[in-house]
Amino acid sequence: MNTPALAARTIRMVLPAIETSEGDGMIVRRPFPNGRVEQVDPFLLLDEMGPVHMQPGHARGAPDHPHRGFETVSYILEGELEHEDSVGNRGILRAGDVQWMTAGRGVVHSEMPSRNFQERGGRLHGFQLWVNLPSTHKLIEPRYQELPAASIPVFTTNDGLATVKIVAGSVAGHAGAVQTHTPMLYAHLVAHPGAVVTFDVTSSMNAMVYGIAGRGVVGNHEHSTTVVRGDLAVTAKDGAGVELRVEAAATVPFEALVLAGEPINEPLARYGPFVMNTREEIVEAYDDFQAGRLGQIVRTS
Ligand code: CO
Repeated sequence: MNTPALAARTIRMVLPAIETSEGDGMIVRRPFPNGRVEQVDPFLLLDEMGPVHMQPGHARGAPDHPHRGFETVSYILEGELEHEDSVGNRGILRAGDVQWMTAGRGVVHSEMPSRNFQERGGRLHGFQLWVNLPSTHKLIEPRYQELPAASIPVFTTNDGLATVKIVAGSVAGHAGAVQTHTPMLYAHLVAHPGAVVTFDVTSSMNAMVYGIAGRGVVGNHEHSTTVVRGDLAVTAKDGAGVELRVEAAATVPFEALVLAGEPINEPLARYGPFVMNTREEIVEAYDDFQAGRLGQIVRTS
């Protein structure tokens, strides 16, 4: 992050999030994939859960389901999400926490509002991002990186107008919290009126900005796009930085996820919760799941 450069990227396209239903009826907003865009390599999917007020006894989530060949990244802003899996992991994600799960050769997991949350009800808001793995890593051992909110670095700009929570990658020389298999950036920006921030990305990376709240301007001085809640602006690869501005006259901060990653550039074969390189590998994943080879969640209570 530095002062605005002339080389800020322009916007290639803006994808509005579309409401869809996941798991057992949980409503999510999804900018991609859709009929137009299958992925923004290496990112396979972005879902925003809520913000929604769930009534006591009516909380919904994603009960037991498998994954193979990629990573799922859960980031909770409000509420509580409980996860359990076939490897024996179990835990609760609370506001500000991140779980970076490498499914690798396969896990079965469930992602549900916590029991406590289901009983009391409340506001739920969060994100799930799917990150592809290169073919050489698709069948690695499953791994979790659990990041409590307090362990995630937060960077504040010199003028104090913007803060950036660095989940992955680095911002202005500050390293993020997780280890990734390919170079990428996952940052949560809160920018106040008058803020101008530039995220440095290498010229080969795909980059995008998803609006969470408020109104921001993404692009350079000649070509820019306004991003509001639910807009995903995907940049062109025509510059070395992603520049975001908030009008000085704005009355609320602009909040966004800033994501960038080195594309994997491999064939994509995806079927529901499995993302591989060939159709044969998908069939194999499905067979392995059906035969119980991805395990099951053992519940004692
Ligand atoms: Co899942």
